[in-house]
Amino acid sequence: MPVNTSSTLAIPETGSTPRHVAIIMDGNGRWATKRYLPRVAGHSRGVDAVREAVRSCGERGIEYLTLFAFSSENWRRPEEEVSVLLQLFAMVLEQEVAKLNANGVRLKVVGDLSRFDAKLVSLIRKAEAKTADKTKLTLTICANYGGRWDVMQATHAMLAAQPHLATSFTEADLTPYLSMAYAPEPDLFIRTGGEQRISNFLIWQLAYTELFFTETYWPDFDHRTLDEAIASYRRRERRFGRTSEQVREASRVTEPAPGSVPAAAASTRVDA
Ligand code: FPP
Repeated sequence: MPVNTSSTLAIPETGSTPRHVAIIMDGNGRWATKRYLPRVAGHSRGVDAVREAVRSCGERGIEYLTLFAFSSENWRRPEEEVSVLLQLFAMVLEQEVAKLNANGVRLKVVGDLSRFDAKLVSLIRKAEAKTADKTKLTLTICANYGGRWDVMQATHAMLAAQPHLATSFTEADLTPYLSMAYAPEPDLFIRTGGEQRISNFLIWQLAYTELFFTETYWPDFDHRTLDEAIASYRRRERRFGRTSEQVREASRVTEPAPGSVPAAAASTRVDA
């Protein structure tokens, strides 16, 4: 099965551990304000939480971790805060890449990089190249990313490569051009900070993703919060449009891989 199977075209393989976790890291500003600190102190502590999330995901056998670091809409923030966020991003790229490499982490950065200065883009490309052959965990940082931007850029790229599709094209024609075509769709989405919305994150890829919202502010996110989200994921029944009976039948005929059970088989929930 190709890595980027579309959940609306085929039933993806699922296990008791999510293969792909996508996170909106929210609450940095409130974490800092609560402590009478400037908002940027929250972003700085947020970087520590990123380190912990990468480590914890690796330890749990999660193959893809995707983090929403800077949205297309974050340019609307005060100039100083935007500048600090971009500096933190550059610092992470410069200082953490060797560690990522040593731990088998492949780094990818997706988003509209055209608004970033040339130095930052060069750091991004170098960091990606240095870790390109790593296979334990793929860490994707979404930077100047927006879900609608992604669908639009994919459509433009597809039409540039295959102009004959201008009159008619299918989902299967489009998906290879999405910016995360190298990854399976997320199994588990986590948003910290108490808000319950998608905020123009991976709007196409989240079609059948299990959603988990927590009040925990991002700087306080740790392995315990991750385990809470995974435990919640394990209680879900992933039906991908089918009935519970079909899911149970499918889990009877599908031999689980050693050490893993289908999420549906682990589930006790049978309602909608
Ligand atoms: C949301 O908190 C967080 C962000 C907009 C940025 C997240 C950035 C980091 C964790 C640091 C850099 C990360 C990497 C991967 C280099 P918020 O400011 O919206 O918090 P609030 O809702 O409490 O105001």
